[in-house]
This record gives sequence, C-alpha cells and structure tokens, in this order.
Amino acid sequence: MSYDKLPYKLTDSYRNNPNRYKDMVYNRCGYSGLKLSAISLGLWQNFGGIDDFMTVTKMICEAFDLGITHFDLANNYGRPSGSAEINFGRVLKHELKSYRHEIIISTKAGYDMWPGPYGVGGSRKYLIASCDQSLKKLGLDYVDIFYSHRFDPDTPLEETMGALAHLVNQGKALYIGISTYSPNQTLEAISILNNLGMPCLVHQASYSLFNRWIENELLEVLDNNGIGCIAFSTLAQGILSNKYLNGVSANSRANRAETSLKPEILSNSIIKNINALSNIAKKRGQTLSQMALAWIQKDQRVTSALIGVSNTEQIRENIKSLQNVTFSEDELIEIDQYSIDQDINLWAPVEKEKG
Ligand SMILES: NC(=O)c1ccc[n+]([C@@H]2O[C@H](COP(=O)([O-])OP(=O)(O)OC[C@H]3O[C@@H](n4cnc5c(N)ncnc54)[C@H](OP(=O)(O)O)[C@@H]3O)[C@@H](O)[C@H]2O)c1
Repeated sequence: MSYDKLPYKLTDSYRNNPNRYKDMVYNRCGYSGLKLSAISLGLWQNFGGIDDFMTVTKMICEAFDLGITHFDLANNYGRPSGSAEINFGRVLKHELKSYRHEIIISTKAGYDMWPGPYGVGGSRKYLIASCDQSLKKLGLDYVDIFYSHRFDPDTPLEETMGALAHLVNQGKALYIGISTYSPNQTLEAISILNNLGMPCLVHQASYSLFNRWIENELLEVLDNNGIGCIAFSTLAQGILSNKYLNGVSANSRANRAETSLKPEILSNSIIKNINALSNIAKKRGQTLSQMALAWIQKDQRVTSALIGVSNTEQIRENIKSLQNVTFSEDELIEIDQYSIDQDINLWAPVEKEKG
C-alpha cells in the first residue's frame, strides 16, 4: 500500500511518558544554547513509503517517549526518495503535534533529489527550493537545523553558506549545519559563516569503532571553533550489533535488495573483530551495540550519537548504552586492538581539486 493511503491516527502509539526527560542525557551543542539528546534518531532507512507505517509511527513515538528529542532527516530519505519526510510529517501531525516545541527536527539537501541541474549539489537555487519542499512535506513552518548535506566542489562555498544563512534569516531554519565536510572545508565554511554573522551550529560526520577518520583532525577543528558534532552510522549500519556475530542474517540491512550495506563487507576478519568486541561488551554488562554507542559518547566533543533502527526494541536496547559511558584505560587498549578502520566510510569528504 502506498504511504498516502495508510490510516492516520494510531491510537496509543504515543503514551506521553511523564518521565521521558529523566533518564536521557542532553548535551550542549558546541558554544550554542541548544542542547541535543545524547542519542538522536535518524530516518534514512526504514521510515519511508515502502515501510510499514504502523512500525514507523511506533518507532518515532517510542523514541520521543524515551527522551530522544532530535530527529534527523534529509530531503532524499526513505524509499521512494523523500517519503521519510512525508511520513515524519504525518506522525508529527497526528501523534505529536502539541509537542513540536519539544522536538528538534533537522533536514538536509546536497545529494540527488530531482531531475535536472537544480536538484543536486550546493547551489542557492537547490538549497532554497529543497528547504521549501521539505517544509511542505513535513507540514512545518520551520526546521530546527538545515544542513548542507555534502561539500559541492562545483559551487563557490560562499554561495552554499549564503543560502543557509538566507534560510535562517527567512525563519525557515533556526540553525545551520554542515555534513561530511573535510577539516579544511569546515574551516572555510566557518570563516564564511562568521563573516555573515551566522554561526555554524553542528557538523554531522560518520564515526564508529570501524570508521575513526574524524579523530585525526576534524574533532579538534570543531572543538576549537565551538561547533557540535553529531556522529552518524555509529553502528556501522548495524555491523556493530549482535546481528552479524555469525555472519549475514536473513532479516538484516545487508540482506536487503539494493542495500547500502554490501554483504561482501562482512569478511571473516570483521566477524572475528565483532565477536572479540562483543566479548569485551559482555564483560562490561553491555551488548555490542550498547558498547559501540557508549564508546562514541565517551568523547565530550561528540554532542549526540545518531542511531538508525528497524524496530522499537532496537531503540530500547541502544538507549541503555547511556547507563555506562565510561571506559577504563585497559578496556580502551583492548578495544583498540579490534577497532580497526574497515574501509566502510561511504561518506569520505571529497577535497576540491586544485587547478
Ligand atoms: N549526513 C550523512 O551523510 C548521513 C549518511 C548516513 C546516515 N546519516 C544519518 O545517520 C542515521 C543512522 O545511519 P545508519 O542507519 O547508517 O546508522 P546505524 O545506527 O549505524 O545503523 C542502523 C541499523 O543498524 C541496525 N541496528 C540498530 N540497532 C540495532 C540493535 N540494537 N541490534 C541489531 N541491529 C541494530 C538496524 O539494521 P537492520 O535494518 O538490519 O535491523 C538499523 O537500521 C541515518 O538515519 C541518518 O539520519 C547521515
């Protein structure tokens, strides 16, 4: 059934848990006044038109009930492309409307969205048109954070940053974010935005036990400039969970058609490493996904760890990572033996070619 033909109100999905803010941790995002939940929910996969709308509703409501205040979208999330924003807008309208002011909603533009030269990249034309389209799909007057989803080497950075600042000036976005920019591109963006009197709130970057590129330079750049960091693909698309301990299982992202997680990635060496990491997690009283998320949160420079999920049990399991985010020196040394870069970063920044 197509997503626009499904029933609207799913009674009792949202339980209005009065304790929802008690157990969650809220971290200040860089130098800003904005606090984000230490765990945020991303709607890239499993929240689209092809997915079961009842499950989509329950996952969003359960997350909010457990204290997650930040929901991360992009213009192209979901299948068909763009349908996650429509679904999120419907859940917001029918389940969470009176809580809009308690929720941080982000969206982005940068990857391919519609045909022709104005549906991709970092041009002012694309970013502003896309934000207008996202607001319509979400049924909102404004989003909290609007991101440049990736650096565009074919557009002057002044134009991309100028478009983001324009959206804030128009009241269509409250804050500006950039995603998967290299350290140099980030510094350039910060400088342009500072000249416009418009701070960059946050950088969204891939980061996990198997993908540690931001440790080299980016985290320092963000910290020095008072910019928050939201880590994504923190479970390496699910590899860092109990799901793959014995290889690719039937009900997993790696086993779906046209997947972003190619099953070939699950080599014997990765499986050996996740089993070793899982044993360390057990000694800490955690599951592998809980330890992987705790490990991200141990670094004060990371404001929030984004998670993707396919059911509500995964949200509940992952949120329990907050119960123990400290590691002994010995644990960190042991983890480092298996936390090896696995060449899984599909979002490595592309530097502008000189010439
Ligand atoms: N800025 C960017 O360029 C960019 C790029 C990618 C993602 N993101 C953001 O980051 C978010 C998360 O990305 P991601 O989906 O790659 O993140 P992820 O958290 O690394 O992987 C999510 C997947 O892991 C599995 N999983 C999660 N918890 C589990 C558990 N407790 N036990 C077993 N399996 C578990 C689920 O897969 P199954 O479906 O197999 O159950 C889930 O769909 C996205 O939604 C998006 O908001 C941003």
